[in-house]
Amino acid sequence: MDAHEIRNSYLAFLQSNGHTVIERAPLVPRGDTSTLFNGSGMQSLLPFLLGAEHPAGKRLTDSQPCVRAQDIDDVGDNRHTTFFEMLGNWSLGDYFKETQIRQFFTFLVDIVGLDPQKIYVTCFIGDAENGIPRDDEAAAIWQTVFAEKGITAEVAEIGSQADGDARGVRPGERIFFYDGGENWWSRGGSLAGTPIGDPCGPDSEVFYDFGPEFQDASFGLAHPASDGGQFMEIGNQVFMQYRRLDDGSFEELARRNVDFGGGLERIAAASIGSDDVFRISLLWPIIAALQNLTGRSYEDETSSMRIIADHLRGATFLAVDGVRPSNKEQGYVMRRLLRRAIRLALSLGLTENFFAEIVPVIADLYADDYPEVAASRDEVIAVLVKEENSFRRTLEGGLLALADYQGQTLTGADVFRLSDTHGFPKELSVEEARRLGIAVADDWQAEFALALEEQRARSRGATRLGAAGLPGGAPGAGA
Ligand code: ALA
Repeated sequence: MDAHEIRNSYLAFLQSNGHTVIERAPLVPRGDTSTLFNGSGMQSLLPFLLGAEHPAGKRLTDSQPCVRAQDIDDVGDNRHTTFFEMLGNWSLGDYFKETQIRQFFTFLVDIVGLDPQKIYVTCFIGDAENGIPRDDEAAAIWQTVFAEKGITAEVAEIGSQADGDARGVRPGERIFFYDGGENWWSRGGSLAGTPIGDPCGPDSEVFYDFGPEFQDASFGLAHPASDGGQFMEIGNQVFMQYRRLDDGSFEELARRNVDFGGGLERIAAASIGSDDVFRISLLWPIIAALQNLTGRSYEDETSSMRIIADHLRGATFLAVDGVRPSNKEQGYVMRRLLRRAIRLALSLGLTENFFAEIVPVIADLYADDYPEVAASRDEVIAVLVKEENSFRRTLEGGLLALADYQGQTLTGADVFRLSDTHGFPKELSVEEARRLGIAVADDWQAEFALALEEQRARSRGATRLGAAGLPGGAPGAGA
């Protein structure tokens, strides 16, 4: 199955199980300033996970476009993307662990066709301090569903990721218990990081095993929660039954919910037996177009092509959802994605504008499934091309200026000067300097912040003088 078929069959399967397909949320959360972007399917459903009645009922499903800008520096490997689609289903006080685990396992094995022998799962080990029990119930359900496929799934005690890196997987083991750093979900990531007031709970994660040859030994021994490459997480079932109180403790919610999220791109990668998400039907056409444009091969330019494809796809979806490049918040992240893509394309020899060739390829990949992409296609292309034009001029000036630092150490004050006089964004200066082999001072960030603060203080002073010296200067200006 390709990604489009996986998305559609997931939604159809969940509908056949009594779920209503709900409208996806926009990438910029409505009426919620706690995060810049919608980073998971559940985010727009927070009130319902805390007990409010949802107009569409107790069983919901969707495919939610997400942006995790915090992952930007990981993009370039085989699995990280800033933009991705999360297949989601929710039970709001309806079914719980057994139905969820069976449902997802059936989808993966009987509908997508994954080999159950390659599926490994994790459960929550319990937390004595907070009185939260170990999830033997989920483990027992997993043993049953694996047994129905003729697989004896043994249980392993792991604990932390570090324990796993040292211990690895022993023959027969398929169900792994980890602590609140791994098998607990909240918007804060871990049990300890759960934000006050948020719903949360133990989770059971599902991994696909690509085989030992994919493990990077520098990460230690392979086990599901290792980042070494052999195992890739493809779905997470959160048993949302707690809420964190003001004093940091956890109270049981009146209703127990399920919050399931599965990475569409990753399930699609497992389905084609590739550990590289950029090989799937929603990303490969972008890479293919980049190969055509540059005349270079993906094998030689893997990381740059991945970053360009990811960033342009993310920026395209942000534009569809109304974000425009700017110097703050969402607009700044979008600008950063676009500028990085341009700069990397330059390193692949693309000295001319190229968004007009790539953005339509991206729009066409989504136009059938997301009518809003088809409707805004021309406008989105125009927005991105305009940003490309303006940045190309900045880039040329900035790169010339940066070249003068060859053989020196780039300091925070230098980075500030490049940004102030050439409009060269600070992250780009540092990334580009490193690429050119120019040393960057360890404390560049602190020095940059100081230079910025000094400049602000100067301009505050100037504003005050100007206001006082001009007739009708605004009272209190600069205060
Ligand atoms: N909300 C859960 C996640 O993002 C499903 O992993």
